[in-house]
Amino acid sequence: MKIVAVVNQKGGVAKTTTTANLGACLAARGYRTLLIDLDPQANLTLGLGIEWYALECSLNHVLLDPDEVPLKNILHQIADLPLYLAPGHLDLAHAEAMLMPRPDSAYRLRNSLEDLFKEETFDWVFIDCPPSLGTLTQNAIVASSHLLIPTEPKFYAFAGMDTLNKMIVGLTKGLRFRIELLGVLLTMYERGTRLHQTIAEEIRERFGDKVFQTVIYKNVRLSESEVEGMPIILFDRRATGAQNYEQLAEEILNRATG
Ligand SMILES: Nc1ncnc2c1ncn2[C@@H]1O[C@H](COP(=O)(O)OP(=O)(O)O)[C@@H](O)[C@H]1O
Ligand SMILES: [Mg+2]
Repeated sequence: MKIVAVVNQKGGVAKTTTTANLGACLAARGYRTLLIDLDPQANLTLGLGIEWYALECSLNHVLLDPDEVPLKNILHQIADLPLYLAPGHLDLAHAEAMLMPRPDSAYRLRNSLEDLFKEETFDWVFIDCPPSLGTLTQNAIVASSHLLIPTEPKFYAFAGMDTLNKMIVGLTKGLRFRIELLGVLLTMYERGTRLHQTIAEEIRERFGDKVFQTVIYKNVRLSESEVEGMPIILFDRRATGAQNYEQLAEEILNRATG
């Protein structure tokens, strides 16, 4: 089992899109996959067709009171795939504020996952993080074995990764656990854009083979599938976005086994 935090402190770099679509591609290949929506914007939840505002229980309840609401109780199966979602909610922001003063505030998700894994097994877990480096993101990092960092090929996105690297180093040092970089993913790539090419090259130079060979091209079908509340492979299998995420799944599986 790999537990992967999908992180970047910048918003709009395709963290949520990557979580939903990579997860669906792996599930479609038969891997039991769990997606966790740790963002108070709950875009992952809505994008998978679940109306967070109508839910009785969501991740905020699990974080605040795991004895009352264990993680297992809030899972939703997506389509007919072995794909499960722990839904987010606007109140995650409130949960974060409530947790902050507690000494175990960064360990809440990890503890809940450990309880879940006593009863359920998954091949892959992906955690969609908010665009910040606060307590919620720390929960994701503490719970994860790997990091996946999506980034636009833009200069400011690149600068954000520097901060992220520093935070990862800091957290890893303080907590004495190992977390591996699964990979850096170039998203929203525009064909024939010189600037994108230049920055992509810089990122490859800096992160070497940690940058996925697969690039996610800009493709409006990805946004449309999100609005329709389903992963792109179920919405338009032939779209570039669907093919890109299929290829990413393939690359990740090859890396994991090879
Ligand atoms: N490859 C892409 N091409 C076009 N639009 C994309 C692509 N990836 C994501 N988007 C859109 O860009 C917006 C931001 O993506 P999102 O995954 O929500 O980013 P984040 O979670 O990092 O904030 C969303 O509206 C999404 O549908
Ligand atoms: Mg998001």
